Amino acid sequence: MCGIFAYLNYLTPKSRLEVLDLLVTGLKRLEYRGYDSTGVAIDSPDSKNIVMVKRMGKVKVLEDAIQEHFTGGEYSEPVATHIGIAHTRWATHGEPCERNSHPQRSDEGNGFVVVHNGIITNYNDVKTFLRKRGYEFESETDTEVFAKLVHHLWKTHPTYSFRELVEQAILQLEGAFAVAVKSKHFPGECVAARRSSPLLVGIKTKTRLATDHIPILYGKDDKKQTSDQETRPHGQTRELPVLPRSDSTSEFMPLEEKEVEYFFASDASAVIEHTNRVIYLEDDDVAAVRDGTLSIHRLKKSLDDPHAREITTLKMEIQQIMKGNYDYFMQKEIFEQPDSVVNTMRGRVRFDGNAIVLGGIKDYIPEIKRCRRLMLIGCGTSYHSAVATRQLLEELTELPVMVELASDFLDRNTPIFRDDVCFFISQSGETADTLMALRYCKQRGALIMGITNTVGSSICRESHCGVHINAGPEIGVASTKAYTSQFISLVMFALVMSEDRLSLQQRRLEILQALSNLADQIRKVLKLDSKVQELAKDLYQHKSLLIMGRGYNFATCLEGALKVKELTYMHSEGIMAGELKHGPLALVDDSMPVLMIVLRDPVYVKCMNALQQVTSRKGCPIIICEEGDEETKAFSSRSLEIPRTVDCLQGILTVIPMQLLSYHIAVLRGCDVDCPRNLAKSVTVE
Ligand code: G6P
Repeated sequence: MCGIFAYLNYLTPKSRLEVLDLLVTGLKRLEYRGYDSTGVAIDSPDSKNIVMVKRMGKVKVLEDAIQEHFTGGEYSEPVATHIGIAHTRWATHGEPCERNSHPQRSDEGNGFVVVHNGIITNYNDVKTFLRKRGYEFESETDTEVFAKLVHHLWKTHPTYSFRELVEQAILQLEGAFAVAVKSKHFPGECVAARRSSPLLVGIKTKTRLATDHIPILYGKDDKKQTSDQETRPHGQTRELPVLPRSDSTSEFMPLEEKEVEYFFASDASAVIEHTNRVIYLEDDDVAAVRDGTLSIHRLKKSLDDPHAREITTLKMEIQQIMKGNYDYFMQKEIFEQPDSVVNTMRGRVRFDGNAIVLGGIKDYIPEIKRCRRLMLIGCGTSYHSAVATRQLLEELTELPVMVELASDFLDRNTPIFRDDVCFFISQSGETADTLMALRYCKQRGALIMGITNTVGSSICRESHCGVHINAGPEIGVASTKAYTSQFISLVMFALVMSEDRLSLQQRRLEILQALSNLADQIRKVLKLDSKVQELAKDLYQHKSLLIMGRGYNFATCLEGALKVKELTYMHSEGIMAGELKHGPLALVDDSMPVLMIVLRDPVYVKCMNALQQVTSRKGCPIIICEEGDEETKAFSSRSLEIPRTVDCLQGILTVIPMQLLSYHIAVLRGCDVDCPRNLAKSVTVE
């Protein structure tokens, strides 16, 4: 969802065309997040103005427009210091169109231009305030108020530095956002800030950096800042409160380098090809570059603030975010699963000693064992991984396990107690609803455990403990390998919790054995690809697909239906086979496509019963069954056979044919596999 990419070269000559190329490549790396329009801003050839190009649609459209627009030779001349900002927008306020695309500007002269992620919730109040001071708005975005507010502050406080202007503006705004700002009044400077939306700074220098920390600088009177902040404008005409200027002198020195390049980005995939040295900004951090010097300031001081932000070295490799020989990232990610599941278990599961150590939670295990209940909270696919493992968690922990959609959990103001253990499952670690639910539970004293795939993400940082699923970067908007790795992480947790339960040892051994065979079995399932493609040819022109199953495979039905909806725009429903006679059976006839999961597990007889209910209504289901199960196969002319594994891991093997099926249907229907319409990879708004 929305992507910010900004690039500042200080005493590192680059032509404007090179800068544009860099900005466009940065946006391409962020495409997977989901967006509907794009834009860039760079300096004009005489460096006195800012030029913007914005387009509806894909980054490719912007790239073509840039080629058309920047034709003069002056764009090829190197500039020693320059700042360019770029954005992919996912519409929230105002339809997707050029006018609403970012950068948004402060005035016709492009004095200040802003790229922004997230939502400014009090934008209407600020808009009223600014309108009364003569500002006219040209877009329907909340972002435009930010640009104009900075401009208003600049006019009223001409001595303020660029960073101070942005700080003052942010202090008037409510909501969740990340911003990067460029100004023709402050050439060569960039100010960026975050509140609840992710933002990082990448640093590239010719020689090794002399430090691995950037000190945090504070205002002189933080108490005053906090109380003033409560008096934000609510549409009234009074002047904005002017807060004390912060003091940038400090016992620490900010990062000063002679020749340096800075990258501001929503996530690491956009900077990794340039540098592996990054700083993850925290909420209320303001990062400013002036004369090549990076400094980080805090809007509010809290007791547990560290003195500095660490410069992290990314472990990610560029190849990990490239498509390689695959046509789509999603396809690559489906086929990576034999490796990604092993990476999730690597260094944690010792198959020889039947032992499991989860380093990120081991100190909390005694406390977790004393808890009243486990709550598993997530959205979309992450929620499905909780549904998939709930039964095993109940069995091996003997605790009540609640599984919750983050948005609904918050709507209900669900009661939470100090002795609850709450799991927040999120591939990105940034999903707004999940993060809000985390904060809600943390405030009520529960133990917070994060299950995420993104090191340094907000959910990672705000959890007490957690498991990093190590699936590697997932670029396709529709989640695949993250699901199977989340699934395995939760299974590993269940195994840890039952380590000392004698009565459960046989069951644990059976699961560990199955985990050790899983990668090979996934490889076998992936060999069904061409068969699944044939099935996709039968299905892709239909309007609907019903997916039925129960027990350990119900989650596959939900996840399979979600994949079909997300990727193919067909209607699809995951149906609990036990509910068939309570409604869904009315949909079944000889023309309704149905897929049924019928495996040899404790609910086999019940699934067979459901299968017969469908076939006796002339339904012709596609069956997913176990290898060599002739009896079940006999019920249909179309089946997919998967290897036998322990019941609680079947869901991993049954979901892969569903991932492949949705992928092939999407290709046949001509859909954009990696970036489905209206969807975003990282949903950073509630
Ligand atoms: C979006 C994505 C889904 C994902 C969900 C939760 O809706 O399109 O693929 O499952 O967010 O994301 P998370 O990063 O929290 O797992």
